[in-house]
Amino acid sequence: MPGEPKRLEHPKIVYVIGFIFKIITLSVLIAVVYQITFSPHGPAVLVPIKEKIEETQKSEILEEVKKQEEYEVHRHFHNVVAYPQLPDKVRPVCYICHSDYPHSKNKKVRAILNMHTQFSVCETCHIEEKKGATVAYRWYNPFSENPKGPFFGTSYDPETGNLMEVEDLFSKIAPYFMVDGEIEAALQMQESDLAKDYMNVRDELTPEQRDNVKKKFHVNIKAKGHECKDCHSRKGLLDFRALGFASNRTVDLEQLNITGMITKYEKFYIPNLFK
Ligand code: HEC
Ligand code: HEC
Ligand code: HEC
Repeated sequence: MPGEPKRLEHPKIVYVIGFIFKIITLSVLIAVVYQITFSPHGPAVLVPIKEKIEETQKSEILEEVKKQEEYEVHRHFHNVVAYPQLPDKVRPVCYICHSDYPHSKNKKVRAILNMHTQFSVCETCHIEEKKGATVAYRWYNPFSENPKGPFFGTSYDPETGNLMEVEDLFSKIAPYFMVDGEIEAALQMQESDLAKDYMNVRDELTPEQRDNVKKKFHVNIKAKGHECKDCHSRKGLLDFRALGFASNRTVDLEQLNITGMITKYEKFYIPNLFK
């Protein structure tokens, strides 16, 4: 319209600021929606629907691993399942120095490795093979010479498809050395007092002194544990059937026939498993 002042262009900076505010608003919106729908810290209104969709072939263990990874982001750990804590006397000494979450370096696999310690002892993966001895794997229970099971995770409940609930939550798969037909435990039962003492004073020790203590507790322990495919394959380290796993469970474990597994770990640890 004539007479009216010509509309001035806004300076560019105004657009930039406007854009930044739009981004901030959008981020806050997304965060709020996530908090309400899926976040484990919010009301999680959409989680039941997501679970419905994922219901086929779900894995409780993998669920726990997922939660664990969420918690790890915030660097605080939780025991997701209330596993019974062993009394000090029968608790493997490894936990004193390495805590319940000993794996931290490799982000891709640490949660799943830590989860494996709920049903296998450290030595199952970290045992150093000995000359003249073969390694055999059995269920080990600190309170029973000869545990009979049924053991955790060995079969599915035919009605729900979930893992069968069991009473024995103490038994874990453990290695034994077989030497000339004699069986000998490969588990280290060492005095925990020394380990506790070490934890109190370790900051005052020199690297050599630390190394010496470490050596004392690391008899027959190798630094790198077994890889996934060492167990999750046919004719792997563990004889699943002999350990009491049901045959459909055995097939699932051998092939790691579990939703979410393939993309997630294949590249890192199981390159040829699915061929
Ligand atoms: C007295 C404390 C102590 C005890 C007990 C202990 N460790 Fe360790 N462990 C260490 C130290 C120290 C390291 C070096 C890690 C570091 O430098 O941060 C280590 C490292 C490791 C490593 C990584 C590789 C390496 O050699 O550095 C593995 C695997 C391991 N320990 C397994 C075990 C297992 C399995 C047990 C139980 C049989 C165990 N540890 C008991 C102190 C201990
Ligand atoms: C399912 C097999 C498995 C079991 C069970 C297991 N580990 Fe490991 N562990 C591994 C593998 C594989 C690695 C190497 C990971 C990597 O790629 O860095 C490893 C690495 C480690 C490391 C050094 C690297 C890190 O992640 O910080 C420590 C320490 C360790 N294990 C301690 C333990 C202790 C203590 C236990 C028992 C409570 C245990 N592990 C049980 C497989 C296992
Ligand atoms: C020492 C042998 C061993 C190694 C090594 C091992 N696993 Fe396992 N894994 C097992 C056993 C045994 C079970 C079943 C335990 C149970 O349910 O009682 C299992 C269970 C699982 C499950 C849960 C399956 C379910 O139905 O919930 C996943 C997933 C898995 N392993 C992935 C891995 C990955 C990934 C690796 C390598 C980073 C790995 N495992 C290394 C022995 C092993």
